[in-house]
Amino acid sequence: MAVQVKVFFHQDTGTLSYLVVDSQAQHAVIIDSVLDFDIGSGEVKAEFANRQLAYIADNNLKLVWILDTHAHADHLSAANYLRTKTGAKTVIGQGITEVRSRFSKTFNRATSGPGEQPDFDCLLAEGQQLVFGSAALSGISTPGHTSDSLSYLIEDNVFVGDTLFMPDAGTARCDFPGGDADTLWDSIARLHELPDDYKIWVCHDYQPDGRELRYQTTVKESRESNIYVGSHRQKTEYVALRKKRDATLGAPKLLYPSLQVNLWGASLPECESNGVRYIKIPLTDKVTS
Ligand SMILES: [Fe+2]
Repeated sequence: MAVQVKVFFHQDTGTLSYLVVDSQAQHAVIIDSVLDFDIGSGEVKAEFANRQLAYIADNNLKLVWILDTHAHADHLSAANYLRTKTGAKTVIGQGITEVRSRFSKTFNRATSGPGEQPDFDCLLAEGQQLVFGSAALSGISTPGHTSDSLSYLIEDNVFVGDTLFMPDAGTARCDFPGGDADTLWDSIARLHELPDDYKIWVCHDYQPDGRELRYQTTVKESRESNIYVGSHRQKTEYVALRKKRDATLGAPKLLYPSLQVNLWGASLPECESNGVRYIKIPLTDKVTS
């Protein structure tokens, strides 16, 4: 039986989050949910995630898995919040271990141990399957944007995270630590080998030139017409283009807050002795003139 996909758009971060429902058993999974966060005030809210929870309650669904496609650097994942509210299990790709290990040094924070927040419930490997109701999902390793990126295949739907954008928007950047344009090209080539009519669901859409929101394409459309990685492009051409473009991009506004949450099971940092949680911002070595 075909799964149903319900789309939620988080306007502030341009993020698409998907609720995928096996309508036979009324079991569901959520992919790439978002916590609302205001960096000026430090206010963290769950309005967006609560809309998803309301939909789940209104439709008598049981949430089984809460999936992230990678350690996002532009928004806080709501995975742990959703887990707390529903008892569903959190899932991310196995590559998270390596990414977290790298950033533990940046944040001077242990990867695990006393005082650390609980981690993800499941670190999914390439090809590994998870079941919800009568449906199943499996991971396709798609590094390049980040080294931990994992796409999720559910029947004829593939949820690609930031591995691909809509055909008129190209791909995500590859200049984060562990990112690599060469590797992303190879990952996209694997996705483009899926059957032509498989549906690709992207995690972000920034509505280039003010066009209406788009979030779903097909393997055929993406392979033939993606402006960066379509069939008119060569790998070397793409890598040069991606590097040139990445050199012009600044750090995402929520880079450090996102990583300090998303790499540690999507949990907020522990309270300090005064009962307050903090986000750290590592500063550059010197003051540049
Ligand atoms: Fe991302």
